[in-house]
Amino acid sequence: MYLTKEEERIYNGEQGPTLQKMMEILVALGDIYGADKLIPIKSAQIAGVSYKTIGDAGLEWISDLKGKVKVPAVLNPMGMDRDLYSRMGIDEGFALKQKEILYAYESLGIRPECTCTPYYLEKPRFGDHLAWSESSAVCFANSVLGARTNREGGPSALAAALIGKTASYGLHLKENRYPTVTIKVKEPLHGAEYGALGYVAGARIGDGIPIFVLKTTPTEDELKHLGAALAASGAVALFHVLNVTPEQYILPPDRMEIEKQELDSEDDWQVPTRYFLPRNRIDIDMGKVRLLVNRHIEPDLIALGCPHASKEELEEIIKALGDRNVRKEVWVCVGRSVGAKYPELVNKLKEHGITVLYDTCMVVSPAANHFKKMMVNSGKALKYVPSMCSVEAEIGTTKECIEVACKGD
Ligand code: F3S
Repeated sequence: MYLTKEEERIYNGEQGPTLQKMMEILVALGDIYGADKLIPIKSAQIAGVSYKTIGDAGLEWISDLKGKVKVPAVLNPMGMDRDLYSRMGIDEGFALKQKEILYAYESLGIRPECTCTPYYLEKPRFGDHLAWSESSAVCFANSVLGARTNREGGPSALAAALIGKTASYGLHLKENRYPTVTIKVKEPLHGAEYGALGYVAGARIGDGIPIFVLKTTPTEDELKHLGAALAASGAVALFHVLNVTPEQYILPPDRMEIEKQELDSEDDWQVPTRYFLPRNRIDIDMGKVRLLVNRHIEPDLIALGCPHASKEELEEIIKALGDRNVRKEVWVCVGRSVGAKYPELVNKLKEHGITVLYDTCMVVSPAANHFKKMMVNSGKALKYVPSMCSVEAEIGTTKECIEVACKGD
C-alpha cells in the first residue's frame, strides 16, 4: 500500500508509539484487503466500550494509548447508563470499570456520547468516507445516507480516528457497492415487520448486498430496523431499496444495456431499464416473517430503542400510551444527545412509568440478564437478546409492545 512521506514517518514511530501502533493496524488491514492507499475520513464511531464485552484486557489496551483523535469521534453504547446504573441493578465494581473505560476514551479526545445512532448527532453526507463500527450504524450510513464505511472493528475505528484516515478498500470503493442479490417482497410491510424481514433475509444473504423491491415505501426508522436486523442475522453492511435509497440506481458498467424484458419477465413488476436487479434472487417466505411478529410470550421486560430511538419513535411510544401508565418494566434506550434535545418527550415517557436509558442498551448491559423474557420491537434485538443475554425474546410492533406493557391499566 502506498504511504505518503508523513504516513511513513508515523509508521516508523517518529510521532510516538500510539500513532505507530494505529498506523500499523491500518496498514495491516489495507494489505490484507488490497487497499492502494489511505483516505481521509469525516468521522469515527468506536465499538468496544461495554466492560461486559471488552473486560480488563480491553481497558488496559485503551488506557495505554496517548494522543487525540483527528476527526469527530463517538462511542458505541456501554454497559450502563452513567447516572442510572444503580437503578439498573449494576454493581459498583462493574460501574467503576465502566467509568474508567469511558474516561480512557475521553482522554483521547473522543466525545463521551455512547450511541449506535451517531447519525442523529451529525448526519454524514452522501459520499463521505467514515470509519464506523456498530453494525446497524454502518448499514444505515451506507444504505440510507449513501456515505461509505466498512464494518470496522473497535481497534480499527479507533486507529482511523487517531490517524484521521482509513484504508481504501471494500465499501469505500464504488465497484464494491453494486447489489448482488434481488429480494422482491410481494406483500406490504409495516413497522416491526421490516425488522422481522431483515431477520429472515439476513440469514439467507450472509455478507451479500441486497436490493429490495418492496410494495410499500419504508420510513427512515423502518429502514433503520431493516438494516439493523440484516446486519445482525447476516453480515450485511449495505442494502439498496428500489426507488428509495440514494444508491438504488447504482449500475455495474457491464450491465448498462440490460433489457427491461430480461429483468422482469417473471412477473409484472415495473422496473425501469436503468436499474440493475441481480439475477441471483432470494424468495422470502412472508409466512415466516409474519410468524415472528406473532409469537406470544409473557415478558417481564419490554425494551424499545434498538437501534437507539429517534424523536419520531419516542413520539410513537407516547401516542401508543395515551393516558395509560405501564404496569411492567419498560426500557426505552436513547442517545444522550437526543434525550437532551427533546426533554419534553423524555419527561412524558417517565411520567407514564417508563425508564429512559442513555448510554446503553438491552443487549450490551448486563442488567438485561436479570430478566427471563423480553419483548422488543427490533429484529436486531430479537437476534441478540437470546444469544448475548440468555433471555428469551419476542418481537412486536411498538403499539403491541405498549399494549402488553399497559395490560390491566
Ligand atoms: Fe444499538 Fe444495542 Fe441495538 S448497540 S443496535 S441498541 S443491540
